[in-house]
Amino acid sequence: MARTFLMVKPSAVDAGQVGGIIAVVEEAGFRILGAASRRLTSAEAEVFYDVHRGKEFFESLVAYVTSGLTLGLMLEAADAVALLRQTVGATDPADAAPGTVRALFGETLQRNAVHASDSPERVEHESIVYFGDCPRTLIS
Ligand code: CMP
Repeated sequence: MARTFLMVKPSAVDAGQVGGIIAVVEEAGFRILGAASRRLTSAEAEVFYDVHRGKEFFESLVAYVTSGLTLGLMLEAADAVALLRQTVGATDPADAAPGTVRALFGETLQRNAVHASDSPERVEHESIVYFGDCPRTLIS
């Protein structure tokens, strides 16, 4: 079994889509190992999205993701990283396959319902930024 990290973005939390998103994720075969709901600080969001620093959309992305509550989930499944990326669909909801989280709940490229880690290293990085060291046993 492997682990991965999913963050439901503020627009999806505000729109009351958390239950629907979790239903799709559980239906895909994931088990929830841990969850927290929080509003990220700008400093946390900048570290969370450090791979995008310097891109033209970076400041707008940080402003958006810190604009409201998010939900972070540690998830477990076989081949979890790849399975979750398949389950959430393409980054731009307009390109996401039918039935995927972003096709069902995404609005725009930025307001695309969720963020999913794209490698085991990013699972570690993003979940530590999100959860802090407290649930470290969930990650290691
Ligand atoms: P996410 O999975 O959260 O990872 C980084 C986010 O940046 C991505 O989803 C999109 O919401 C956003 N993003 C990626 N590319 C662009 C872009 N060209 N313009 C605006 N936002 C983008």
